Amino acid sequence: MAEMEEPRFLKDPEIRIRPFVQGDAEAVGTLVRDVFERDMEAQLVHDLRRCKAMVLELVAEDAAGELVGHIAFSRMTGCQVGHPLQISCLAPVSVAKQRQMQGIGAALIQSGLDQLQGLGEDVVTVLGAPEYYTRFGFDSELAKKYQGPYSGKVYMAVAFTREAQLENACQVTYATPFQALG
Ligand SMILES: CC(C)(COP(=O)(O)OP(=O)(O)OC[C@H]1O[C@@H](n2cnc3c(N)ncnc32)[C@H](O)[C@@H]1OP(=O)(O)O)[C@@H](O)C(=O)NCCC(=O)NCCS
Repeated sequence: MAEMEEPRFLKDPEIRIRPFVQGDAEAVGTLVRDVFERDMEAQLVHDLRRCKAMVLELVAEDAAGELVGHIAFSRMTGCQVGHPLQISCLAPVSVAKQRQMQGIGAALIQSGLDQLQGLGEDVVTVLGAPEYYTRFGFDSELAKKYQGPYSGKVYMAVAFTREAQLENACQVTYATPFQALG
């Protein structure tokens, strides 16, 4: 897959957004653990990869080749409608503490969404701060059509296809490793 850049967001033009490769696994684990100051999210990333639920995984790398960001999109299933919609979930997204507020999270999110759209994904959901995610097109009204364990303003979705603008709500299920989060 081609290397991507998001100059729209990045304050440091030397940051590269690129696809995850297996050799990144250890560094990603360390990064995610450091960012969240616990094991849960790093374990989630590991388990999503292990059960082949990952739809897309990207990393941000600085000029020295150090990983400073990571994002995961995983498969959601169970939509009971006539269309076999492809639905994924954005979680988690991690930016190294000393590199936060420099546009790296935004670059990872926007690159991920652009790629998923190109891959034919219908809809992406997220659970997070509305003031951050709405800038990427995420919308809590649309998410009401994709009913799962979460609701309210923090549960948002962005649609890429007409099929994703459902007339009737449908039930969605997260990949199995999310169940360990309780
Ligand atoms: C959340 C996170 C991914 C954002 O990435 P980032 O590179 O620091 O953020 P960006 O530079 O792209 O964007 C900065 C903007 O996001 C906002 N923002 C950052 N984190 C936020 C949060 N937790 N809640 C609300 N807004 C947030 C900032 O206020 C800023 O807003 P502005 O552009 O209006 O000034 C990063 O801060 C991070 O890794 N946080 C810890 C892990 C986490 O909470 N992940 C998200 C849940 S999975």
